[in-house]
Amino acid sequence: MKKPKTATYEADPGEVSKVLLLFSGGLDTTILMKWIQDMYKTDVITLTLDLGQPGIDLKEVKQKALKLGALKAYVIDAKKEFAEHYISKAIKANALYQGQYPLSTAIGRPLICKYAAEIAEKEGCDAIAHGSTGKGNDQVRLDAGIITLNPKLKVIAPVRDYDLTRDVEIDFAKKHNIPIAHHKMSQYSTDENIWGRSIECGILEDPSKEPPKDIYLMSIPPEFAPDKPETITLEFEKGIPIALDNMKMELNKLIEKLNLIAGKHGIGMVDMVEDRIVGLKSREIYECPAAITILTAHKDLEKFTCTIHQNSLKPVMDQKWSEMAYYGLWYDPLMGSLNAFIDKANEKVTGMVKVKLFKGTATTIGRSSPYGLYDHKLASYTKGQTFNQAASTGFIELWSLQTKMANQIKEG
Ligand code: ARG
Repeated sequence: MKKPKTATYEADPGEVSKVLLLFSGGLDTTILMKWIQDMYKTDVITLTLDLGQPGIDLKEVKQKALKLGALKAYVIDAKKEFAEHYISKAIKANALYQGQYPLSTAIGRPLICKYAAEIAEKEGCDAIAHGSTGKGNDQVRLDAGIITLNPKLKVIAPVRDYDLTRDVEIDFAKKHNIPIAHHKMSQYSTDENIWGRSIECGILEDPSKEPPKDIYLMSIPPEFAPDKPETITLEFEKGIPIALDNMKMELNKLIEKLNLIAGKHGIGMVDMVEDRIVGLKSREIYECPAAITILTAHKDLEKFTCTIHQNSLKPVMDQKWSEMAYYGLWYDPLMGSLNAFIDKANEKVTGMVKVKLFKGTATTIGRSSPYGLYDHKLASYTKGQTFNQAASTGFIELWSLQTKMANQIKEG
């Protein structure tokens, strides 16, 4: 039974004629492929974006969609675009939601919405369907993104709107002879791309228990990581990584390579209880080896090349950026304003950073930049230093003036 409509962008059967389904090939969207045809009596076209999901065979996904009756199945390699226009902004914004999560799932959604709106227009679809539940953030990001980009589109989210539980889905699959894969990951809900992997549900829902070791795909738990550290060099230009160990490469390739190197050392495993948009607290596990390594290096180089005043305000803007991305408001004009500020602040973030990877920790151990504001002659305590120490006492007298006065006033 569908819950009564509460929003203008929802659609009951009979109100739409052609549906574009965001198809991952997982349990939910596989069921939906057939379910929408049955329930809404419409043609269905599918869209699958390749954002670098590890272990997914996109040819197979396409075949699966067509076999289940899709009129057309779009599979688009968007890794380069994702890296250059989405991840790059997150890097410049040192983006970590609540200080821990690099927003890998969150920043993929606006790109999915962009393609969905474009293809819906091209194919004459009047609705977009997706497999999100009514408890998570992705429903917010997808619905908000789609109706912002094209307010005429309707959104169908049957798992949420018809309360399709896993058991209902499995029964439906059996009834309609839809093959569904059973594997050890099926108790979890996962989402992955080159910026990281999110794992939730199943036994992870007990936040007091350590996650089992076998949930990880991109990283080796630190206790099993090599006993010898490995040092890598990242070169940045205007805040964007352009070379790894002196080899220039496209950002998506660099990230994929670094995921393998840093993953081997157990970097970027995050266990957090986060505040979802819809008010829930949820226990989430992330693995994001390249993201954490790059963000560590970027933040360091940014501090090295920016002034004390820039370094004071930047984290405030960064936090707002992360929240807007998390909250599904990528297309709000505020994002444009924040990106303008953040791009400007990154103009001089050019140089090299050396990062040591060792048993779960990425540590910056060296940095250099033609724009570094560090001056050895000024900072050094050795002979030949140029800092005017005689000026310090006058500065301190004025700097502490109000503090001193406030402390001298006796309480009445
Ligand atoms: N909590 C994370 C976020 O909101 C991860 C969501 C993962 N999505 C999923 N379908 N498993 O960005």
